[in-house]
Amino acid sequence: MGSQGEVPRVHGQKKAMGTASILAIGTANPSNVLEQSTFPDFYFRVTNSDHKQHLKDKFRRICEKSTIKKRHLYINEALLAANPEMATYMAPSLDMRQAIISEKVPELGAAAATAALKEWGGRIEDITHLIVGSTSGGSDMPGADYHIMRLLGLSPSVRRVALYHQGCFVGAAALRLAKDLAENNGGARVLAVCVETNLMYFRGVDDAHMDNLVCQALFGDGASAIVVGADADPAAEKPLFDVVHATQHLIPETGSAIQGLIREVGLTFGLISEVPSLIAKNIEAGLQDTLDGAGVADGADRNSMFWAVHPGGRAILDKVEAALGLEPEKMRASRKVLAEYGNMGSACAWFVLDEIRRWSAAEGCGTTGEGCEWGVLFGFGPGLTMDTVLLRSRAAHT
Ligand code: CAA
Repeated sequence: MGSQGEVPRVHGQKKAMGTASILAIGTANPSNVLEQSTFPDFYFRVTNSDHKQHLKDKFRRICEKSTIKKRHLYINEALLAANPEMATYMAPSLDMRQAIISEKVPELGAAAATAALKEWGGRIEDITHLIVGSTSGGSDMPGADYHIMRLLGLSPSVRRVALYHQGCFVGAAALRLAKDLAENNGGARVLAVCVETNLMYFRGVDDAHMDNLVCQALFGDGASAIVVGADADPAAEKPLFDVVHATQHLIPETGSAIQGLIREVGLTFGLISEVPSLIAKNIEAGLQDTLDGAGVADGADRNSMFWAVHPGGRAILDKVEAALGLEPEKMRASRKVLAEYGNMGSACAWFVLDEIRRWSAAEGCGTTGEGCEWGVLFGFGPGLTMDTVLLRSRAAHT
């Protein structure tokens, strides 16, 4: 026992020696693909809104300006025909949405986790912690975390943490949490999963709510997963990125800029058009917090780093790029994920990292971070909340 006032050390509990690293990344999407070029016709047809030509024209403009090419969505005509309340603007529909989501979200999350575990290559019983993040699928008890654990066959003593109904910054926040868990529990291997679907907020058209149109044009379904651990076994594990430091920054007086409310009609989204400029105005402060906390001097040319920015919308990427003085190619991975999948909320962050490391390997870059040593991952969401993670790349794997 320690002396009086000292907290006793739990038997066998020790910290890791080194910094946590991302050891593997996996992703998954529903197989149903909707092209953005034909989405306005689909959306106005299935919501019986073809007579609202002015709104359809506006929606087409938003879709064109989104730079999204396609999205993977569970939504299809058969599902909407069977559940017509989802296709009206504000019909009570929570029960039926939950019934579908409670099956699809764990399945999709488990598919991404399976891909990450396969790349990691370790034994399933060596996973010590599970983090699950989801805005669209986390309101049942037990929740998606329990079902994902069951589907994967994880040990019943896995320590679970759920980050539900928080928004898109959770991909970055879960990485921050995974780092803390891995570094404070020697030998820990943390499986983190983020999974989102628009089944919770797909709805019809309304003349007074243009932010609903923006949401219907942007969001896609997807899941991503990572395995995080410190003191990697060089014989069996291949670290992709070291997670050097992570911070969270709240932008003052912006609590209502992005709102997600669960009501009888499902999840409603409120989105003001100033979101991209509010993020851009405050991005330096969030970045500075992280660099100062890591003890990294910020003299480095921003273009000598790699960037994984939450692809919340094209305007967010444009404004962040301008605010940080980045060359266009620095946003390549974020723009590619936006183009191929849309905004998949919390799941986006690790899709972007996956794209960065795959491209780095394919292009023969020296590191997993597009040839750069240091990189930054940004998550944005309600609050407005900005999670910033400083990463260090590793030698590129093929
Ligand atoms: N609410 C209502 N209308 C909006 C709007 C908003 N938030 N943003 C844009 N619009 C309207 C414009 O008024 C415009 O209407 P008109 O054509 O009738 O003039 C139309 O959309 C197109 O806008 P612009 O011509 O100005 O085109 P743009 O270059 O701004 O592109 C966009 C449109 C692709 C939607 C772009 O504005 C964008 O990317 N916006 C960012 C979207 C955003 O906030 N994403 C965050 C989502 S939330 C998130 O990721 C985190 C989370 O936790 C959920």
